[in-house]
Amino acid sequence: PGDFSLQGRGAAKVVILGAGVTGLTAAYELGKAGYDCTLLEARAKAGGRNLTLRGGDRLTELNGPAQEVKLGEGLYFNAGPARIAQWMVTLDYCRELGVPIETFVNRNAQAYIHTNGQSVRQRTARADMYGYVAELLAKATDSGALDRKLTAEDRDRLLTFLRRFGDLGPELDYEGSPRRGFFDYPGLDEGSPFPPPGSLAQVLAAGTGRAITNDFGHDQASPMFQVVGGTDTIVTRLVEAIGADRITTGAKVTGITDLPDGVEVTWDGGRIKADYCIATLPPHLLAKIPHNLGADVTAALRLPTPMSTGKIGLEYDRRWWELEDRIYGGVSETDLDIARIWYPSYGYHGERGVLVGYYNHGPDAELYGALTPDDRRRRALTQGKKIHGEKYRTGVLSSISVAWERQEHIQGGWASWPAFDSSFTLLQRPSGRVYFAGDWLTRLTAWMAGAMESARGVVTELHKRVLQSS
Ligand code: PHE
Repeated sequence: PGDFSLQGRGAAKVVILGAGVTGLTAAYELGKAGYDCTLLEARAKAGGRNLTLRGGDRLTELNGPAQEVKLGEGLYFNAGPARIAQWMVTLDYCRELGVPIETFVNRNAQAYIHTNGQSVRQRTARADMYGYVAELLAKATDSGALDRKLTAEDRDRLLTFLRRFGDLGPELDYEGSPRRGFFDYPGLDEGSPFPPPGSLAQVLAAGTGRAITNDFGHDQASPMFQVVGGTDTIVTRLVEAIGADRITTGAKVTGITDLPDGVEVTWDGGRIKADYCIATLPPHLLAKIPHNLGADVTAALRLPTPMSTGKIGLEYDRRWWELEDRIYGGVSETDLDIARIWYPSYGYHGERGVLVGYYNHGPDAELYGALTPDDRRRRALTQGKKIHGEKYRTGVLSSISVAWERQEHIQGGWASWPAFDSSFTLLQRPSGRVYFAGDWLTRLTAWMAGAMESARGVVTELHKRVLQSS
């Protein structure tokens, strides 16, 4: 990450297949260095999975009915990428392009964990799990069970930490803690705290572990960020910088021919010859386009498996999650087929709001994807009611759902390699004058940062070659 610029000017002509974040970033960087880029995009507009839906938009789907988006003024639904980690290059592009950002609440102690039919606040689940883990480790330490690993000094230091980590009592017992939360929070009086936790066995059986460690990874660590007003401002600004006239939409590529002096690309409406080509289509779709790049390229392109992913936006006539549950942004994790509920990290205290009523992948996503939009909503509401009660089903003004495996010319939420093997590295190299790029060619699959890093890598290589050959 950080600022990026190709050094020196290049004058070559480059045809870029796909105007998603990868293709746009490549065109943007090449454009800054003087290249003449043309982008061919099969969909009706640029952006790819970077898709934000607002009232008046229409979302079509393969083998399914189109949906009219009915969200009210000022509301939006990020059908694709929504959260950005601080170390990601995405934020550098936001800064460079003047795309405003704000915090995205990824971890919220006030949100719920719903497992085995029970909902608890995340703070409660965390207090109990940390408490019991600390108790066990503290007692093992104290009894000398770890003496082969610990000096006397280590032992004291570890015990000091564990008392704090688990909020343990004088005998190193976890007996609950104000960290679990309150029925009535303290104010003029001391409030009424939750009752003591269940037993260690009960807490373990509740199975909250996965949910409370969700944001431990470097890619999910709080605070994360989001684009003010919807992620697609990144697309809008990139398109402005590149020049909208460089993008041909509705252009489905039908052939790629690598030639000694250039690349010829045909689409269902024309043909173009350029000095180089950057193919940024999803690998499973690129694999089906006739080309002369060799059987090993086709075989490699077939390896990454597309993952089904779905999301639903639920618009409510009032922000009951703020008013009643006192949840301001964040995510409730569940063991239901909705996987999770996202509360909006914008528009606090506004009149209406949009929840993400499911964000799932794999079989759960396929299950929802196979339903009609109405049935997706019905099912999502039935599930969410298990956490939030009857209010979850009242006051829904509109909904909009996306099944990425059913989005034309995309057909997947992301594509994953079974292994980062020689096929992966093969496609990181150009095949003749054709370069491949996309988040699927990085270790940042399913992140805009992957798309951008891949684009940077490829334009760097291409530019080096152009400078050497002139
Ligand atoms: N980037 C997507 C997200 O934040 C998908 C993803 C999830 C990727 C978890 C990696 C890990 O939800």
